[in-house]
Amino acid sequence: MKGLILAGGTGSRLRPLTYTGAKQLLPVGNRPILFYAVDDMVRAGVTDIGVVVGETAPLIEAALGDGTQFECHFTYIPQEAPLGLAHAVKISQLFLGTDPFLMVLGDNLLRGGVAPLVQRFQQQHPAAAVLLTQIEDPRQFGVAVVEAGRVVRLVEKPEHPPSNLALVGAYCFDARIHEAVSSLRPSGRGELEITDAIQWLVDHNEPVDAAEVTGWWKDTGRPEDVLDANRLILDDLKSQNDGSVDADSQLTGRVAVATGAIIEHSTIRGPATIGEGAVIIDSYIGPYTSIGPRVHLRSVEIELSVVLPDSRLENIGERIDQSLIGQGVDVRGRQGRPKTVRLVLGDHSRIEI
Ligand code: DAU
Repeated sequence: MKGLILAGGTGSRLRPLTYTGAKQLLPVGNRPILFYAVDDMVRAGVTDIGVVVGETAPLIEAALGDGTQFECHFTYIPQEAPLGLAHAVKISQLFLGTDPFLMVLGDNLLRGGVAPLVQRFQQQHPAAAVLLTQIEDPRQFGVAVVEAGRVVRLVEKPEHPPSNLALVGAYCFDARIHEAVSSLRPSGRGELEITDAIQWLVDHNEPVDAAEVTGWWKDTGRPEDVLDANRLILDDLKSQNDGSVDADSQLTGRVAVATGAIIEHSTIRGPATIGEGAVIIDSYIGPYTSIGPRVHLRSVEIELSVVLPDSRLENIGERIDQSLIGQGVDVRGRQGRPKTVRLVLGDHSRIEI
């Protein structure tokens, strides 16, 4: 069985973070979201993996490499524009051949992994198998109607959802999907929709198997989703200390401190993770916080937040809460009067003062 990971797209809902980076590479628990998808695939026994890449291809390729670090092999498949999930399958045909394959979206996180989906697919041999989850308002997702474990209808982002079962970003297909994909026309939003391709299978009496996810699932499309995903991932964090923590500092709960990190006169309450070479001085780091590699914090209180690599935060009077801070950001508290705020913010930045 082959694998296909979708790591193209634009990430417009995560601007400005995605102006310089790929949305699939945003870190949660100090690891790119995409790495968890690769781990899941490898754990499900899928190691020959195609990676669909778009304009952020150089970044994705630099992060994933040839696959050695994950004990798998990657083939990069360039997509000229994000023309849809089914378009991604179409351009991957040469790589996929007639093999069955597991497709996952590079910005989705699944606590229970994809191994149960693969197992079901391999035992029952349907044309496709999808994962679903109950969502109160599924209008932002593909929505399925299921009867006796079989999908009977699928609609992409419906205004009036026919059920509350949303499609999670993991699918198994056999070669019949290629015929479905080649018969598609672009949808109202101009994309070749994988939901339409699966509907084509249903319409041609091909069996489409459905299972509900076990554990949580997170689509990390918006900043608040990234913070949620970070929280969920940190729930499974194990304590580790490879850095240097002075006698004036206190680490409580599960805290992971990476190599070369320095913590002085600070309190860290886990679950929290501190990246390689980070420097934390006179600061408080509260639960569910990931501090990226080489970040410098001095006189800062922060919790429920994610700070990307190489940022510097100093002398901040207020506690930073539920914040997503980009790479190489510089935030400094101003002492003295007048009490003003000076801002140099990128396009689409969001701050609350
Ligand atoms: O998250 C689950 C949802 O994912 C499903 O419920 C929907 O049925 C499915 O269409 C999809 O919807 P999204 O609007 O969330 O998809 P998005 O555009 O965010 O793309 C998902 C991933 O695939 C993301 O990592 C980018 C990548 N992608 C996307 C497109 C459209 C590509 O690599 N190429 C593409 O052409």
